[in-house]
Amino acid sequence: MINIAKPMIGEEEKQAVIAVLDSGIIAQGPRVKAFEEAFAQMCGVSYCIATTSGTTALHTAMLAHGIGPGDEVITSPFTFIASANSVLYTGARPVFVDIDPETFNMNPDLLEAAITPQTKAILPVHLFGLSCDMDSILAVAEKYGLVVIEDACQSHGALYKDRRVGSFGTGVFSFYPTKNMTSAEGGMISTNDASIDEECRVIRQHGMRRRYFHDELGFNFRMTDVHAAIGHEQLKKLERFNAARRQNTQFLNAQLRGVIPPCEPEGLQHVYHQYTVRVTDGRRDALRSHLQEHGIGSEVYYPVPVHQQKFYVEELGYHDSMPEAERASREVLSLPVHPAVSPADLEVIVSTVNGFMGVN
Ligand SMILES: Cc1ncc(COP(=O)(O)O)c(C=O)c1O
Repeated sequence: MINIAKPMIGEEEKQAVIAVLDSGIIAQGPRVKAFEEAFAQMCGVSYCIATTSGTTALHTAMLAHGIGPGDEVITSPFTFIASANSVLYTGARPVFVDIDPETFNMNPDLLEAAITPQTKAILPVHLFGLSCDMDSILAVAEKYGLVVIEDACQSHGALYKDRRVGSFGTGVFSFYPTKNMTSAEGGMISTNDASIDEECRVIRQHGMRRRYFHDELGFNFRMTDVHAAIGHEQLKKLERFNAARRQNTQFLNAQLRGVIPPCEPEGLQHVYHQYTVRVTDGRRDALRSHLQEHGIGSEVYYPVPVHQQKFYVEELGYHDSMPEAERASREVLSLPVHPAVSPADLEVIVSTVNGFMGVN
């Protein structure tokens, strides 16, 4: 079976975990600090704060920016549910703007129409490994005095022009095992703002500024040194992992027929967390079954856009239509592209897709 995802855990990660276990410091300690510093360097930011997951990192970042009841946060409807749920956790309301059909990312041309006096932040999601159009998003944010929190959970190391994602506003990353790098579970916040860094650290540790003095409500969102040790070793391999994903993409782009390959706009560097094609002839699900029968894993990210999820419709009353997000949900299919996909696997994927599409 050629799986859709595979964590690339090597001897270095195993040895690093054993070293932590032997050290006796197994909760948040020196490995977390070292991982935070190395991740900040990769992103090109001054500070990073590690948490237990991408979801808790998003939640923490929102709270650190003071987002709460009565506020609106503009985001994409075509994303993993955590992007929007983290807005709900704060008591604020997610407001969706439709996506650009080429990039699958938030369409910045629709942003201004979604702004109200309640709008506090924009939460662009760099989906599948591709940065959003940050110049346009930052211009709108500046014009209206809005906070920008980047959901970079799928885009470790991706470049917008010469800058890493996560360095434009407050950035958020996930280290779930399917991601371009993992810590088993884990998350990271990136920022250049010393006050946001401090606030995130306080929220992560039960609102504690001085030991056992709690001035505000916080949580236990601390990463352990065991997870940080894995994450730090993975970070050292991120460039290599991303290069392998890009190389696999080049082959698939050149060989696949009958499907629309992902796009990489000029000046951006995609890190292909997912290699997502469009099947526009209505046979997306049939192609998926065919691939499954031939031992090839594939996945639909995402079959239902967030604004159409049952909870959002029935409990929260969302009813606007987002035609491009809805069309993408019907047409997208992600194919294996991770570093463990071999040249022989790529040949099998290409011949199976092309054979099904009738364009061998
Ligand atoms: C776009 C996006 N946002 C947020 C998350 C949440 O991350 P986690 O699963 O680590 O909580 C994920 C990943 O799962 C994601 O893909």
